Amino acid sequence: MIGINLNSEERKLILDFFALKQLPHDVALTFGDVALPEGHSDIRSRSEISDFRTQLSPNLKLSIPFISANMESVTGPEMIIAVEREGGLGIIPQSIPVEEKKRILDVVKRADCARINDPLTINFGKTLREAKNLMNRFKIYSLVVVDEKFMPLGILSTRDWKYETDENKKVEELMSANLIKANHDIGFEEARSILRKNKIEKLPLVDKTGKLTSLITAHGLFYHMHYPRALRDENGQFIRVGSIGVGKTFKPEHMQDIELQINSGITALLIDTARAFSENTRDAIVAVKKAFPKLTLIVGNVSTPEGAKFLFESGADVVKVGQGPGEACRTREVGIGIPQLTAIAACSAVAKKFGKTVIADGGIKNPGDIVKAIIAGASAVMIGYLFAGTEESPPEPYSYYSEDLKADLAVKDYIGSASHHAQLSRIGKGNLDYLRRPEGVKRIVPVTGTLSRRVSDLLDGMRSAMSYLGARNLKELH
Ligand code: XMP
Repeated sequence: MIGINLNSEERKLILDFFALKQLPHDVALTFGDVALPEGHSDIRSRSEISDFRTQLSPNLKLSIPFISANMESVTGPEMIIAVEREGGLGIIPQSIPVEEKKRILDVVKRADCARINDPLTINFGKTLREAKNLMNRFKIYSLVVVDEKFMPLGILSTRDWKYETDENKKVEELMSANLIKANHDIGFEEARSILRKNKIEKLPLVDKTGKLTSLITAHGLFYHMHYPRALRDENGQFIRVGSIGVGKTFKPEHMQDIELQINSGITALLIDTARAFSENTRDAIVAVKKAFPKLTLIVGNVSTPEGAKFLFESGADVVKVGQGPGEACRTREVGIGIPQLTAIAACSAVAKKFGKTVIADGGIKNPGDIVKAIIAGASAVMIGYLFAGTEESPPEPYSYYSEDLKADLAVKDYIGSASHHAQLSRIGKGNLDYLRRPEGVKRIVPVTGTLSRRVSDLLDGMRSAMSYLGARNLKELH
């Protein structure tokens, strides 16, 4: 029987946790309500601080504690790639159709990957048109050309067809047939020297019979060196996290969606609903755990210790905390939510009891909020607003005249997932039945440059706070 109330031991655990954190337990607070007193520090310069590692679960070890919000106006393939290059995590929105989720996961899987185990191929008899369609779909610029037996014959890359106007031309007439291959077991160092010596960018690997097994790319090797903190799995591919909603009842269709995402190699799944302290969510967790016991389950959102306990007892590995603290949130207009810092601390105390972790989701406006969330017990923060204006978020930028500044600004839309705007778009795609009272809004955010710049600015602010506090890493902050 899963408890929906706390027992006296759990209540005491929470009180002790609050006492340890010097947080009041009889009044709920959010980030702006507290300030951090300085602590004695032996850190002579903030530049000494470079360790921001954190762990959500045994297979989710992040180099930085940032997760891009699973919102359509924040996280698409470019965002996931950008944030994971930095060592954070990107999670796809659950509201998009499963085919689109699969497409995004497949793009991410292939990005920056030094050794691609299922390289995209095309038969030599296909047309340029078919090759271009495939490359556009996966956002890549070259294909390995193979025969019927899957023996590699050549490479077709952009420079082979850039000036070709006849799209009916056969791939074999256009490809570069001067192919250098290597044995499947080759290491990265040797592969690098073959690529360098021959001034080539792709090295197809073959098994003993000469069949194509994988592909090493110069691009992938370069990115491996350039982004040493990147969040990769044992195959050197970016970690992929799938997502699913719960609906009124958890149906077989939900399972099919999850299976499709599992085929794209997801490590974890987000079970996403605005109110996760519910029977619908428990049904979903139990069903998914039973079918896919190895999948790490991130579940949210809740904002009470009772909600967190319910999810952990149901089988969640990581719980996402936050109801209404975000920049595009209006859930508080129906009276629901707990000020975020208190919610994080209470849920973190429960997580600690279960040996699990929480993600603080929403309301992060500056590096200080991140530091406070981590001190309150979160293992990572989820960020929407602060990432929405970066170049890598999905919306197209447009020009907006600011009366205050008397100037045109480049802006993007930041759309609350429960806003009218988002609901109308889902109704249009057949993913929502009727328009509900909005619990979110659409905001306009200035375009702020690359995600990498934003991350480095946030980390620098965290470094500053940590140097005041005398904490060299997130464990010490905790
Ligand atoms: P920030 O503050 O980073 O928060 O923009 C991102 C988080 O806000 C949540 N979210 C919503 N909450 N109505 C809500 O009450 C909405 O329409 C909405 N859209 C997003 C979500 O948890 C996200 O990660």
